[in-house]
Amino acid sequence: MRHVSAAHARAFVEKVLVGNGVTQDNAVIVAKCLVEADLRGVDTHGMNRIPSYMARVREGVLDPRASPTIRQITPAVAQVDGHNGFGFLAAHKGMATAIDMARNIGIGMVSVKHSNHFGMSAWVVQQALDAGMMSLVFTNSSPALPVWGGKSKLMGVSPIACGAPAGKSGRPFIMDMAPSVAARGKIYKALRRGETIPGDWALDKDGNRTDDPSKALEGVMLPMGGPKGSAIAIMMDVFSGVLSGSAFAGHVTNPYDPSKPADVGHFLVAIKPDLFMSIAEFKERMDYLYQRVVGSDKIAGVDRIYFPGEIEDLNKEKRLREGIPLVEAEVQALNKEAERVGAASIATTPPPTKSRL
Ligand SMILES: NC(=O)c1ccc[n+]([C@@H]2O[C@H](COP(=O)([O-])OP(=O)(O)OC[C@H]3O[C@@H](n4cnc5c(N)ncnc54)[C@H](O)[C@@H]3O)[C@@H](O)[C@H]2O)c1
Repeated sequence: MRHVSAAHARAFVEKVLVGNGVTQDNAVIVAKCLVEADLRGVDTHGMNRIPSYMARVREGVLDPRASPTIRQITPAVAQVDGHNGFGFLAAHKGMATAIDMARNIGIGMVSVKHSNHFGMSAWVVQQALDAGMMSLVFTNSSPALPVWGGKSKLMGVSPIACGAPAGKSGRPFIMDMAPSVAARGKIYKALRRGETIPGDWALDKDGNRTDDPSKALEGVMLPMGGPKGSAIAIMMDVFSGVLSGSAFAGHVTNPYDPSKPADVGHFLVAIKPDLFMSIAEFKERMDYLYQRVVGSDKIAGVDRIYFPGEIEDLNKEKRLREGIPLVEAEVQALNKEAERVGAASIATTPPPTKSRL
């Protein structure tokens, strides 16, 4: 295991992106979003995705030079066309537009079409939180999950995410979850690291439970809560795919498949939290909720109760201090991308010593 600081990680990712034709301004946005996932401990959706994204760029199915455009539909509604550029850029522009509308009229809703995978949804929620806004962040994604009762992949493990600003605890509400028992990125991570997976995450291609990540990727992910997880996956497709004009009903391309454009859709809403009371009262009420949740009676074996998003916030605090951990195979895969475009290797350091922990 080696460690890289957030600043070094961002600079490295920016250089690889610019070397692949992304403008400096756009590279800064994409790098920030990817490294935010690494900082929050969502390693499955951070800079390790660079090799698969760059493969799509090299195959000509993701346009590194594209910048999203906006069409204002009503004072509260806008549409973003991602023009098959990075999903990070389309979603970032979409949330910025939703925030502007919410500042003026209380709510802003943005539908995004012709986009790509945008990684961890929580960075979009954080973008809204940084502007003091509540948010809903939906996306669709490539088939990985059967519908309830079905045998083959049809829906994506498309995350549902939302957020609300913190009270004085400083801990915002950030819910960001795939409708599967586990995100598919966790299986790709286990494969990269040569690890097994829990037996209740996926079925192999013959419909048997498996702890082998490569067999799981040939099969299907299992929905969380049976038909309820399946219904949420369909909900993500209705709001992100059907409504936007992007691909839907099993036609989004897998981010690891460099054969054709992905055509992902997103649905983003920003909401001003002081629509019905003062911001002070809202924050006081959020704080009361936080204290009630984390102060709840604990069952045996539980040391601490966390608010949604809190574990990831704590990871971020730790990783900002100690750096982001990477295994050697991940460092090598990243450096291969740097070599291809003549950029410098990623600056890693040995793991922190005990005294720094
Ligand atoms: N863009 C895409 O197409 C795509 C697809 C799938 C997943 N993803 C991303 O993958 C990531 C991982 O998804 P996941 O479903 O595996 O997330 P997860 O299961 O790790 O966490 C889900 C939610 O539960 C909360 N949580 C987890 N453990 C908790 C605990 N002990 N106490 C209180 N709250 C807790 C988390 O804060 C989070 O809000 C997400 O960031 C998601 O956006 C992206």
